[in-house]
Amino acid sequence: MRVHAFAKINLSLRVLGRRPDGYHELRTVFQSLALHDTLTIRRERGPFRFTCDDPSCPAGPSNLVWRAAARVWRAAGKRGAPRDVRIHLSKRIPLEAGLGGGSSDAAAAIRALGRLWRVDSPRQRAIGAALGADVAYFFEGGTVLGLERGDLLVPLPDRPPAWVVLVVPAFGVRTAEAFAWFDERAPRTGARSAGGRERHLSSRNDLEPPVIERHPVVGRLLGALRRAGAQTAAMTGSGSTVFGLFSRRTEAMDAAAALLGRGRRSIVTRTIDRKACRRLAGN
Ligand code: C5P
Repeated sequence: MRVHAFAKINLSLRVLGRRPDGYHELRTVFQSLALHDTLTIRRERGPFRFTCDDPSCPAGPSNLVWRAAARVWRAAGKRGAPRDVRIHLSKRIPLEAGLGGGSSDAAAAIRALGRLWRVDSPRQRAIGAALGADVAYFFEGGTVLGLERGDLLVPLPDRPPAWVVLVVPAFGVRTAEAFAWFDERAPRTGARSAGGRERHLSSRNDLEPPVIERHPVVGRLLGALRRAGAQTAAMTGSGSTVFGLFSRRTEAMDAAAALLGRGRRSIVTRTIDRKACRRLAGN
C-alpha cells in the first residue's frame, strides 16, 4: 500500500499567548501543498521495520512514524511492539523546515495502519493529536484555520490555487527553539501583550522576527521573494523555509532560479485544495 503525506505552509501565524501547558495559543491558517512524501507499507513477517531514503531523517523508534505505529498497534488491542509490517518513507519534504513533514508522515502512517489493524477514524485522530500539535491538520487538508495549539481546526473555503516557491536554507529551525526565542523577546510582558498589535501587525508570521534575529538570511530571502514578484512572502511555521505565492508558473520558476544559492534549495510546487488532498492522500 502506498500513501502520500502532503506538506503544508502557514499562510499566517499569530502567537496570541502562552498556555499553562507550555504550548502557545495560536491563530494560524494552514494550506496544503502538492509537495509530498510517500510511504510504502508492506506486510512482512517479523519485527516492525522502518526505513527512509534520506540519511538525515532519523529512522529509529523516535521517528513520529515509528511512534505512530506503536500507538495504533496498541489501540488495536495488540500486545508488545508492532510487527509484521514494513514501512519505507520516501522523503521529499525538507526536515526542520516548517513544512510539517514529520507530522504529515505520522498522520499518513496512522491512517494506513489504522485501516490495516482496524482502528477507527476517531481513534486515529486521537492518536495523531497526542503525537504533535499540527498532526491534526493533516487529517483535514486544504485551507484551514488552526486555533488553540493549532489543533482546533475550522475548515475555510479553499483558497484560490497558487504556485508556491519554497526557499529552504541550509539550516533548519526546531519548533520548540523558535517558540523559546519568541518568548525571550517578550519575557516579562508575556507573549499576548508584547506580541500584540504594535510590534507584529505588519508580520504575517509572529515567529519571523525572533528567527530573523538569529538567522538574518531569512529576512533577506523574504525581501528577495517580494522583489521577484511574489504576491505574498512569509516564513512558514517556525522556519527555516520561506515561501512566495505566484499566480503564474513561469514567474514561480524564474523566482526559484533567482533565489538559488549557497547551500539553499528552492522548490516550486502548488497549493492543493481539500478534495485533491484527500484524493491524493488515499482517503
Ligand atoms: O506539538 P509538537 O511536538 O509538534 O510541538 C513542538 C514544540 O513546539 C512544543 O514542544 C512547543 O515547545 C512548541 N509549540 C508551542 N505551541 C504550539 C505548538 C508547538 O509552543 N502551539
